[in-house]
Amino acid sequence: MRGHRVRMAKRKGTAAERADKYRLYEKAVQDPEAEVEFISTTFRRLRGRRPRRLREDFCGTAAICCEWVRQRRDNEALGIDLDPEVLAWSQRHRVPKLKNGQRQRLRLLHADVLGVQLQQIVDVIAAFNFSYWIFTDRQRMLGYFQGVCRGLTADGLFFLDAFGGAEAVQTQKEVTRFKKFRYIWDQAEYDPISGMQTCHINFRFPDGSRLEPAFSYRWRVWTLPEIRELLEEAGFSRVTFYWEGTDPGTGEGDGLYTPVEHGEADPAWVVYILAAKS
Ligand SMILES: C[S@@+](CC[C@H](N)C(=O)[O-])C[C@H]1O[C@@H](n2cnc3c(N)ncnc32)[C@H](O)[C@@H]1O
Repeated sequence: MRGHRVRMAKRKGTAAERADKYRLYEKAVQDPEAEVEFISTTFRRLRGRRPRRLREDFCGTAAICCEWVRQRRDNEALGIDLDPEVLAWSQRHRVPKLKNGQRQRLRLLHADVLGVQLQQIVDVIAAFNFSYWIFTDRQRMLGYFQGVCRGLTADGLFFLDAFGGAEAVQTQKEVTRFKKFRYIWDQAEYDPISGMQTCHINFRFPDGSRLEPAFSYRWRVWTLPEIRELLEEAGFSRVTFYWEGTDPGTGEGDGLYTPVEHGEADPAWVVYILAAKS
């Protein structure tokens, strides 16, 4: 009996061994409902029509694509990612959760966003969670932005995000507690000369086991004026920054983003950036 229990315990393994890193990632860093809501309402307010076709660059598990096709009966989504493993995960775990009609309006493409052949222009292109920072020189970033601009309808909008503030360029770890795990954002290295940063996403579990690192990124920390200049050079006619409001009770961000001309010198901030083709 005892031996049986030991075998069972062995088979079950640690929490880290049982964990699904993509599921944890989605829970820790994504909020597709809020992002799709932000995209739809902002597009409608600026363009006076509903956006229908969305392309999600660096889509990972394609959480935004899936939410997009769920939101409206005629919404279509194209997700692009270079990593076949994460796309296969999405096909196995996310796509089957969609209804038949929704599934038919979603396409996942295994490709490099820099080399993607345009099959269809779209109303919205989204690149979230700073993924485009993997382009670390002006030429490649410009090439990426030019491709995005070409991929949009005349009134199309490009949504992206950025982070900054004094804490963004420090080496530090930030821990966020969830019910069944802790999420650690580890800014492990930063070089002020090249602007290159190495970050890890780690997960720790109540039984002491760890997924460390679950994900690693090596990218350049771009500043907002650099991003604006490159977007304008790439052909976008207007670039707007959406700054997060502050909850007066907690002094923390309130999740509401509004367009601003000037930001605040917060130690850590995240902005949405909107680039309009016309
Ligand atoms: C930080 S994850 C972003 C996932 C998701 N978009 C989000 O908002 O959380 C970055 C993703 O970009 C993908 N990626 C990196 N370079 C790429 C490229 N050149 N073209 C397409 N995808 C790329 C990686 O495979 C990874 O899945």
